[in-house]
Amino acid sequence: MKKISFGMVGGGNGAFIGDVHRRGAVMDNLAVLSAGCFSRDLQKNKETAFLWGVPEDRIYSGYEEMAAAEASKSDGIDFVSIVTPTDTHYAIAKCFLEHGIHVVCDKPVTTTLEECRKLQRLAGEKGLLFCVTYTYASYAVIQQAREMIRQGAIGNIINIIAEYPQDWLIVSRASGASAKYAWRLDPARSGGTACCSDIGTHLEALISKMTGIRLEAVLARFIHFQGSPLEHDIQVLLRYENNIPGLLWASQIAAGNDCGVRIRVFGEQGSLEWTHTRPMELRYAPLEGPVQILTANKPYCYSACTSLCRLPAGHPEGFYEAFGNIYQGFCRHLAALKKGKAAEHFTYPTIEDAAAGLRFTAACLRSEQNGNVWTALDE
Ligand SMILES: NC(=O)c1ccc[n+]([C@@H]2O[C@H](COP(=O)([O-])OP(=O)(O)OC[C@H]3O[C@@H](n4cnc5c(N)ncnc54)[C@H](O)[C@@H]3O)[C@@H](O)[C@H]2O)c1
Repeated sequence: MKKISFGMVGGGNGAFIGDVHRRGAVMDNLAVLSAGCFSRDLQKNKETAFLWGVPEDRIYSGYEEMAAAEASKSDGIDFVSIVTPTDTHYAIAKCFLEHGIHVVCDKPVTTTLEECRKLQRLAGEKGLLFCVTYTYASYAVIQQAREMIRQGAIGNIINIIAEYPQDWLIVSRASGASAKYAWRLDPARSGGTACCSDIGTHLEALISKMTGIRLEAVLARFIHFQGSPLEHDIQVLLRYENNIPGLLWASQIAAGNDCGVRIRVFGEQGSLEWTHTRPMELRYAPLEGPVQILTANKPYCYSACTSLCRLPAGHPEGFYEAFGNIYQGFCRHLAALKKGKAAEHFTYPTIEDAAAGLRFTAACLRSEQNGNVWTALDE
């Protein structure tokens, strides 16, 4: 199969997530990086391009120039990966969609729901794919959990507890290194929330993809650390369809925690639990039997899980592979589309999931502003 060609905006050497995207995108040999505008710093832009073998005539100093030039080439990029700070996503994604180029964008896709819906409409009108990289549901064992829930392993869901503690903000404040995170801490650039839109939305996406149930309302409390204008800790009561309750805690000031995603789903017949620090394992506690630790890629796993594993069971796969799984689904979908084939079932997060995340954020913000009251998600 001819490889899918892609370009990247953002992710210059030294940035966080762009490099993870590059490795995830090429992991299964489905895609090749052909063009880029990796940084507004010309030197860094070139260094990143050379490191990844991007030809000199396809290094661009601005994304508008890149979109126009690539759209006019017979062998121009099929899709662009956008890995810049969040407040820049809208203009960049809009520009590439207008030039007929498919988009992968990191989350949160935009700072407002309105902008997200505009991108959703534009992609729909143009018939273009739009992937948004919510990472955690793309771990293989989360798909195992999804299938087990679907098959009734834990019965009807009666409670969901999800948490995402980090300590980067409190650590960087103490060490005076906050400047590195400037865009994340600026209310004008972050859409009015910090912790909620950054990592609260990761949990919202994880719960929804793992359980398949729909969130209806939230009651949120935002905690501001040392007078920060933005919240850096959120505690949210959740109400899902059929009145299923849930509890979500995300924090950027939880000392001693790096990236401690943990989810527990309790059902009438048992429970399932996953922790990011043991990403290949799923704890399954059936009501009438011993607790079991399921390992990804074992013969007893569903194909929804094993198809996302690249190594024999017991060999750790993690964050890079989760991005690999997203890009694999996206590239297969795009390849089918290019061949004019009907879309099969492709599992990767899309702009619809991004809209769900922004609806969650907006509802949490309204709940907080109105005195921590139950708030329905906007349609
Ligand atoms: N999915 C995840 O797990 C995950 C993890 C971290 C970050 N993110 C998201 O990824 C995005 C980027 O975050 P980050 O931590 O990598 O940021 P970062 O600040 O480390 O990197 C941003 C990069 O974009 C470049 N850039 C900025 N504006 C540009 C422009 N107009 N043209 C070209 N390059 C430009 C910067 O030079 C830098 O290289 C954010 O939306 C963030 O929320 C997602």
